[in-house]
Amino acid sequence: MRPATGMRLASSVQRLGTETAFGVLARARELERQGRDVVHLEIGEPDYPTPAHVVEAAARAMRDGHTGYCPSAGLHELRESAAAYFARTRGIEVDPDRVVVGNGAKPLLFFTILATCEPGDEVVYPDPGFPIYESAIRWVGATPVPLPLREERDFAFELDELASLLSPHTKLVILNSPQNPTGGALTPDETRAAAELLATSGAWVLSDEVYARLLYEGEPASVAQTEGLLERTVVLDGLSKTYAMTGWRCGFAAVPEPLVEPLVRFLVNSTSCVPPFVQLAAIAALDGPQDQPEAMREEYRARRELVVSGLDEIPGVSCRSPRGAFYAFPNVSALPLSEHELAHRLLEEAGVAVLAGTAFGRYGAGHLRISYATAPERLELGLARMRAFVETL
Ligand SMILES: Cc1ncc(COP(=O)(O)O)c(C=O)c1O
Repeated sequence: MRPATGMRLASSVQRLGTETAFGVLARARELERQGRDVVHLEIGEPDYPTPAHVVEAAARAMRDGHTGYCPSAGLHELRESAAAYFARTRGIEVDPDRVVVGNGAKPLLFFTILATCEPGDEVVYPDPGFPIYESAIRWVGATPVPLPLREERDFAFELDELASLLSPHTKLVILNSPQNPTGGALTPDETRAAAELLATSGAWVLSDEVYARLLYEGEPASVAQTEGLLERTVVLDGLSKTYAMTGWRCGFAAVPEPLVEPLVRFLVNSTSCVPPFVQLAAIAALDGPQDQPEAMREEYRARRELVVSGLDEIPGVSCRSPRGAFYAFPNVSALPLSEHELAHRLLEEAGVAVLAGTAFGRYGAGHLRISYATAPERLELGLARMRAFVETL
């Protein structure tokens, strides 16, 4: 007889979500293996190589023997570089002892939710938003409270709406600017107003700023710039998007003092450390020449014009101009099929891989997410294919 507990998965696994981008990428690759040409507008990563001096720093570090375990919180030298980087790019003054290094920004956001939230707690998070927020919130058994982003406000949220969602049970508020998937970004005034509101709550804050350097106009704003907020805010950043280092898996966060030890404990219990040669390369990225991040931002700004005007020319499609990151979030609700079916058919029938807005939450309905981190000629081809497909509907 089969024991009652035998060979069954934990029920919590059912609550764990996923990132649709990886599933769509896998299907697109399968179509390519069958000989089809696919324009990749699904995956959110820079189409640039990692800067050569960063690759060289990693190779040198490996040759010099930096290939063993190292401290779980991160090499002290990288924690110092990251603290200086927060000060330089955002005016956030943080002690290096409060910087934690992780295997990408993603585990640090996951561990922040694990370390702060449990059943009975509510977590406010942007919707549409990076899907891992809701996945982790559900996995710990906390209650997800979506904060709708408003297209008519260029995908900012209403401050009153944020205020109305805060309750004595709110344990954590997640903000993300510039934003995945909409390309929206909070203005300094909006950021300050949100920070002042959050200062009156009893909640932790997770400010996901992995696209901070991909803001097209003005300087990146952070809630942590407001007096007192740094004491309750995890400011999340990483190497992936800024330095075209998605596969290196290195992120870092400025962390409130009481959360440092718990986050490091999660790292000790899971990945142990970020490889030291990766961390030494990260120092080269943060401290070295900044021409590539700047060139990338200018290139993505040019592609933004291409993609927004191309989308606006498709009958039944309209697109707000993104203020940052490399995502456009066109409204397709006037078309005679759901965003889900549209994304599916664009891939299968037209050879264009995009994501349905609902992959980012229910407020993404009626939209697609397009990553324009791809060569302009491929972008143009993708847009032409989309237009030709829509005209057949
Ligand atoms: C909003 C946001 N946060 C965090 C991440 C995770 O980045 P990484 O783990 O590569 O540093 C991503 C990646 O797509 C993202 O879009």
